[in-house]
Amino acid sequence: MATAAQDASTAGSALTFPEGFLWGSATASYQIEGAAAEDGRTPSIWDTYARTPGKVRNGDTGDIATDHYHRWREDVAMMADLGIGAYRFSLAWPRVQPTGRGPAVQKGLDFYRRLVDELLEKGIKPVATLYHWDLPQELEDAGGWPERATAERFAEYAAIAADALGDRVATWTTLNEPWCSAFLGYGSGVHAPGRTDPVDALRAAHHLNLGHGLAVQALRSRIPADAQVSVTLNIHHVRPLTDAAEDVDSARRIDALANRVYTGPMLGGAYPEDLLKDTAGLTDWSFVRDGDLTEIHQPLDFLGVNYYTPTLVSKADGSGTHNSDGHGRSSHSPWPAADEVAFHQPPGETTAMGWAVDATGLYDLLRRLGSDFPGLPLVITENGAAFDDYADPNGEVKDPARIAYVRDHLAAVHRAIQDGTDVRGYFLWSLLDNFEWGYGYSKRFGAVYVDYPTGRRIPKASARWYSEVARTGVLPGV
Ligand code: FCB
Repeated sequence: MATAAQDASTAGSALTFPEGFLWGSATASYQIEGAAAEDGRTPSIWDTYARTPGKVRNGDTGDIATDHYHRWREDVAMMADLGIGAYRFSLAWPRVQPTGRGPAVQKGLDFYRRLVDELLEKGIKPVATLYHWDLPQELEDAGGWPERATAERFAEYAAIAADALGDRVATWTTLNEPWCSAFLGYGSGVHAPGRTDPVDALRAAHHLNLGHGLAVQALRSRIPADAQVSVTLNIHHVRPLTDAAEDVDSARRIDALANRVYTGPMLGGAYPEDLLKDTAGLTDWSFVRDGDLTEIHQPLDFLGVNYYTPTLVSKADGSGTHNSDGHGRSSHSPWPAADEVAFHQPPGETTAMGWAVDATGLYDLLRRLGSDFPGLPLVITENGAAFDDYADPNGEVKDPARIAYVRDHLAAVHRAIQDGTDVRGYFLWSLLDNFEWGYGYSKRFGAVYVDYPTGRRIPKASARWYSEVARTGVLPGV
């Protein structure tokens, strides 16, 4: 296991990344686009949820967000100025196919076509995610992800996206963090659509898996053979509080619910036995039909990994909390059949989200994935931190804590590569300050500051720092 001392050994020396390592930044449609009712877009579950009193801090919505739908050209120019090599964005399903069924809206597709053309023109590689949580509300009204039909609709939408963009987007991701969609959306309810039923959460997890598998097939049958297809998971790096057998077993249980519920079927073609056993009191999993696992288990070109902070668990003993997930509190746990598990705040400093800063978690996670899935390249599709940034009287935004965070995490990536793990790229979350889900605009993750009243963009000190790293492929020593 990595130690803080080992990480400290890399401090001071500049670290050179492999040739061809991808330096990117990431965003998501609902978090930045705004223009919620323009050009035929209909409400997504996030529009509805944000309008539900008490759900999103300050009653914030994505109606305007960073106004990227109108400022996309300026945003691409800014990325080009910063020397960013790749841009991970998501398509808003209700902008492309408003009711989640039937034909596409050309204006919606045209927006993404123009965006991609501009990126290519500037030499920035587009990485398109099909689903970053904005399910068309009509599909939720028909039952949402707990229903099998949603997976089938998702494959149809994937086909539309591939037909429209497959000639210019060479890297695709099906889902972003299906754990959040299923367990925060249908379990704890701190994300849209805000439902709170543990069985619905498990059903949603399966139908997200199925949607992924069907979408991979829809993409592959339409895009060039050398295009890449992936999924992005927020693999939790779960650590037991102590070596006691019951704490280790708590970590195993959460690892199954957080990670292996997805990696099992997607990468191995089976649900983990321990997961089925742990949840047997809730469901017999009869919603998994014959043939589903074959549909889900599709070859992938790489695994997208989002990492922010480790997860520390023990057997419940009155300390800790039973429903921690870092994304907001609810009286409903996001973890089905895990009432016996307690979550603990890892030691050390935290970001504005209250998330512990621990780059060794990223190192350990990458090493584990490298050994669990040999031959599958990894890409860090999100990593970054929120801090309470502000523009000073000179109009500058100084964010040394973000620079330190990103530097330490990149050093961890570098060390994992040195030790033999195949990591191909790093996408900083996020390009811009944006709508941080249940936290609204109160949390700033951007390398670029957004002054919301005017929409003005101000690159933070971290953006200039990251720009240098991206241009040179060298992480400076500290
Ligand atoms: C991830 C999400 C992303 C953003 C970051 C902070 O879980 O994928 O949209 O909210 O967290």
